[in-house]
Amino acid sequence: MRKGILLAGGSGTRLHPMTLASSKQLLPVYDKPMVYYPLTVLILAGIRDIMVISTPADLPQFKRLLGDGERLGVKFTYAEQPSPDGIAQAFVIGRDWIAGEGCALVLGDNLIFGDHLAAALQNAAAREDGATVFAYQVRDPERYGVVSFGHNGRALEIVEKPSAPKSNWAVTGLYFYDAQVTELAAAIKPSHRGELEITDLNKLYLERESLQVEKLGRGCAWLDAGTPDSLLQAASFVQTIQSRQGMLVGCPEEVAFRMGFIDAAMLEMEAAKLGKTELGRVLHDLATGNHG
Ligand code: DAU
Repeated sequence: MRKGILLAGGSGTRLHPMTLASSKQLLPVYDKPMVYYPLTVLILAGIRDIMVISTPADLPQFKRLLGDGERLGVKFTYAEQPSPDGIAQAFVIGRDWIAGEGCALVLGDNLIFGDHLAAALQNAAAREDGATVFAYQVRDPERYGVVSFGHNGRALEIVEKPSAPKSNWAVTGLYFYDAQVTELAAAIKPSHRGELEITDLNKLYLERESLQVEKLGRGCAWLDAGTPDSLLQAASFVQTIQSRQGMLVGCPEEVAFRMGFIDAAMLEMEAAKLGKTELGRVLHDLATGNHG
């Protein structure tokens, strides 16, 4: 799979007044804009052709931040979502661009980090048939799409924000779909809250017995940054890992280099642009081979 959508629209009402004049997905999570974290996940999956979808008001800011993608060895295409009519609408908006291929989707406020993630992502991207989603155990599943499993470990049911969840496994905001995705998304009807639900798309794959649900275990962190508390928690998490281990979380330049999308000279240029920041120093060390 070569293509992925980064969905970064919505009105961010749970973060007002922070999001009255700025896109939620451009708010800082410690030392980077929020959108860098899901972008890094797509790059780690090996995806180089990326459509960024946001509101008409916010899209120019994303273009300013991300540009054409050349500096990361990727290609960005931009599209507007006029109103937040549902996550699955990304595949209606992206239909012509997807052009009958498979396509991944990541939500612009999801931060996923952990052990063995690269292999899990690259396997999902390599699957030619069906869909892959990732499940993560949470204390408050009623806030999410929830998947329950049968005795054989296969997914039985997915329900969006159930009042009585049948499991603690939330479906994360990272999805990989085969070439049927635009056709299936076009068949979805708006839910009672007026949205094209991503859970309804996943249910269509589940009914066809072609939904793979991968569990993310203890070695992984999944955070969304949609409320003041979760935004602060995400920032603390990034700060803790980076300062303790000296490793970067959600740095697209680093991952683009490790994936071979850019070479050391290009990475050095990116490091120079970041000037005297700690991020710039770490990238400079990586580009010059001066790292552990
Ligand atoms: O974070 C994972 C969860 O994301 C899943 O477990 C749920 O199944 C899925 O429905 C979604 O739930 P949320 O309640 O978090 O969805 P929310 O409406 O907050 O949208 C998630 C992000 O997607 C948010 O950053 C805004 C963006 N978005 C959302 C909609 C509905 C758009 O860009 N456009 C939209 O139309």
